[in-house]
Amino acid sequence: MAIVGLIASALGIALGLAINWFPVQGSKQADKIDTLWNVLIICSVPVFVLVTTVVLFAARDFRMRPGEEHLDGPPIHGNTKLEVIWTAIPAIMLVSLCTYAYLVLHDIEKAPAAGSERNIAVHGQQFTWTFDYNEGGKKFSSAQLYVPVGESVHFNVTTKDVLHDFWVPAWRMKIDAVPGLTTHYRVTPTKLTPTDGYPVVCAELCGLGHAFMRQTAHVLSKPKFDAWVAKMTKPAATAPAATAPAAGGAAPAVDAKKLFSEGNQQTGATACGACHKLADAGTAGGVGPDLDTVLKGKDEAFIRQSILQPDAEVAQGFSKGIMPATYAKLLSKPEVDALVKYLEEVAAK
Ligand code: CUA
Repeated sequence: MAIVGLIASALGIALGLAINWFPVQGSKQADKIDTLWNVLIICSVPVFVLVTTVVLFAARDFRMRPGEEHLDGPPIHGNTKLEVIWTAIPAIMLVSLCTYAYLVLHDIEKAPAAGSERNIAVHGQQFTWTFDYNEGGKKFSSAQLYVPVGESVHFNVTTKDVLHDFWVPAWRMKIDAVPGLTTHYRVTPTKLTPTDGYPVVCAELCGLGHAFMRQTAHVLSKPKFDAWVAKMTKPAATAPAATAPAAGGAAPAVDAKKLFSEGNQQTGATACGACHKLADAGTAGGVGPDLDTVLKGKDEAFIRQSILQPDAEVAQGFSKGIMPATYAKLLSKPEVDALVKYLEEVAAK
């Protein structure tokens, strides 16, 4: 039994350490968390294997055999030494691991020197995240998360409606957004993002659109981050800054079908097609009403209202509050006009 247990433990630990559980380590905190995870694997696999092995051997050697139905087993009077051992070992392991975990938590939550940290307010809302910045006294919001590499960021997380959970897997840190509370965590991103960014995920089941509550975190070099801040705080842009046309050029025509099926990465406007089926755009989303059916015979005013104030009139069988009411902010006027025109044409077909 001991030999089987030892071999199974060794295999279990090897497998547990060989599996690539996590994405790239994108923050200063990630390494310590991954080490904690590995230590937990090393400690918990032998415990699991010990219990399982004893159960299997007991079932093989001490099971009731035919003809023994009326027999009582030999009287056992306990074994004090054994009981002390199997109480003491788990107790020592638990206290040690809790202490270790506490030290790791204390370490990764340590605040950097005053003033050297950036605060970003994170707001959860069915089904989108908004990030509020205050850069040198200039306040602005973004639907995508941008941070400079190598600088500590303190996130203050709130929600406007139900529970959400703010998670960037590459940074490892994760915290619930709880109605009525502000929760916090800090990370120091250490790696520039790949061109498509790191996923920002909602990790708390929050309604029908939970799976779509995904945005992107971009870790930029300091100069690029400063340039982004400058762009976001530039005055006199009527459209959201990210979509403002280049100085002097006319606004480029909006490709409404593309906007419908792919959304706008820059402003963070999620694709309509992620939730809505529309044959003409080739989308098959099933969270919201099927636009091939519900738009039949609808006029321009209805379509516009449905995009900008989605709760004003909700299709039968669907509830208010599922479609984010943020499109009025995320889409520029030309984008809204183009979408309305496109959907009106499709509806009239
Ligand atoms: Cu928000 Cu799940």
